[in-house]
Amino acid sequence: MSEIRIGIVTISDRASQGVYQDLGGPAILQYFQEVLDCPWQPVSRLIADDKATIEATLRALCDDELCCLVVTTGGTGPALRDVTPEATLAVLDKELPGFGEQMRAVSLQKVPTAILSRQTAGVRGKTLLINLPGKPRAIAECLDAVMAAVPYCVDLIGGPFLTTRPERIAAFRPKSA
Ligand code: MTE
Repeated sequence: MSEIRIGIVTISDRASQGVYQDLGGPAILQYFQEVLDCPWQPVSRLIADDKATIEATLRALCDDELCCLVVTTGGTGPALRDVTPEATLAVLDKELPGFGEQMRAVSLQKVPTAILSRQTAGVRGKTLLINLPGKPRAIAECLDAVMAAVPYCVDLIGGPFLTTRPERIAAFRPKSA
């Protein structure tokens, strides 16, 4: 079993009820299969847009499943049931607002409604959590915008050494590190 565990959380009332297929979770899985070149294993969850459920799921992936990275998809917009950022902030020790800023800036080059996402990121213990929007095509667009900084962030919080395929994403680690 690999020591590198990555949580993949789809947050959607309809996908969790089977009204439609979850495409976001598999897109995150495929992204890391393409980009990471170290052994790792996914820990996947599919849950409703319920704040208490989201918080409990995120806590479990960080504290019990010992994921070094947890990526969520969905529930970042302005609709009544969109509470992923609130649930994420409730479990974070530290917010890293640059992740959301950068993902929105890059996404706005593709689609004007990127401004509607309140996606954020931050650290809980030794885990980096990152929110992504629910649209499957937003997964790679957003992760490409921040992924170069993810391995060093995981280093800084005491996680495992993540390596990437440089032809896809060149991980940046400062020379002094
Ligand atoms: N970001 C990217 N890169 N691509 C997208 O298609 N969709 C936007 C936005 N961010 C989108 C995006 C839309 S339409 C919405 S409503 C918000 O993300 C929030 O989506 P969510 O509630 O599914 O998380």
